[in-house]
Amino acid sequence: MSKKRSYFASADDSRGTIILVLSIIMLLLGLIGIKVKINHDLSTPFSYHMHFESTEGMASSEEGNTDGSVSVRDDYTYAVNISKHWLNDPGVPLQTNGAQYDNVITNNSDYDLVKWSVVIEVPEKNITIDSSWNGEWVYDKKNSTITVTPDERIATIRSGEKADFGAVMISKELMNFTDVNLTGCRYKPMRAFPLFWLIMILIVAWATSVIAYILYRIREENHRKNSERLNNVISQTMTTFANFIDTKDRYTKGHSARVSYYSQKIAEKLGMSEDEVRDIGYIGLMHDCGKLAIPGTILNKPGTLTEEEFDIMRSHTTNGGSILSEFSAIEGIKDGALYHHERYDGKGYMEGLSGEDIPLVARIIGVADALDAMNSDRCYRNHLSRDVIIAELENNKGTQFDPKIAQITIDMIQNGEIFIENGD
Ligand SMILES: [Fe+2]
Repeated sequence: MSKKRSYFASADDSRGTIILVLSIIMLLLGLIGIKVKINHDLSTPFSYHMHFESTEGMASSEEGNTDGSVSVRDDYTYAVNISKHWLNDPGVPLQTNGAQYDNVITNNSDYDLVKWSVVIEVPEKNITIDSSWNGEWVYDKKNSTITVTPDERIATIRSGEKADFGAVMISKELMNFTDVNLTGCRYKPMRAFPLFWLIMILIVAWATSVIAYILYRIREENHRKNSERLNNVISQTMTTFANFIDTKDRYTKGHSARVSYYSQKIAEKLGMSEDEVRDIGYIGLMHDCGKLAIPGTILNKPGTLTEEEFDIMRSHTTNGGSILSEFSAIEGIKDGALYHHERYDGKGYMEGLSGEDIPLVARIIGVADALDAMNSDRCYRNHLSRDVIIAELENNKGTQFDPKIAQITIDMIQNGEIFIENGD
């Protein structure tokens, strides 16, 4: 018997859960890896020494502007420009040069520049820092250096952006900056890593899959419950109707249910699907529904029926076929009622069909019906013994019964799959 695929197979579930858990662990490890890289960059300062290749134009022009001086490393460009210059600054006793030094750092790298400062090497030994902007300028006379620490506004120079800062300084000569040391840390936000977006896409895909899977499971569960309820309604309706049929014939109480049971056992042995076996159970329940149109006086007559009464009795097959003619939801239900008294040798009723011209369901019901008749007490006799029933089935193989179905039934009686009491 073929089995339907179970949507709730535990092996599939656990395999799917393992894959889901592993995939989310891998994605989280990816995010942690990016975070570790960011933290490592933030806690590992670098130092770039930049030497000014060009000092031309450092002197002040008449308008107080210069072309400036530029130092380039691959990732950073440092430019300094004297934008204003004056001599004989009032209030200063010696002749001095006052000048405004404009500095620009351009960040050409892929990373933001953070926690940075610059140390400018200066030739003068006697510099006064008059004022500064965008940073704090500290002159170290002993080492001839100026350390610039940026203020909050330019503490971070984003990738591709620049920051300007400067000071007004007074010195004996105008100063040409020759060397600058840039110290800082690299920072790249998570969203700047392509791997981050790949992980985000995978997480969205993962979450979408999980939601779709949950919705699918909920829908399947609802479908299963509805289907189960519908099957229960059908089954109970059929059983109730079969009880109604059997109640009319006082000698065959429970007959329809037993024929249904035997028919299902035979159908399973014939390799029918689960749905087909279920349906043949319904066909078995309904096979005698035509008896509802037979007068109770004939159905329950204790003695032998007259030929006329027997004709009426036989008409329960055609009556059943008419009653079930509109019942198309269960394939073969009409055939079960109409042809279950046909014989394999063609001597049955009502149409005298033979062999495999008789629908399979009717051949199955025919054997199951005869088996229950032989195994039930009648007003004129007790039920037959197990051995006699087996002998009857054996002797009528190929005449009354489909030989294959009869043999299957014999085998099941003999191996106990169909229990028949071995009384006298
Ligand atoms: Fe019948």
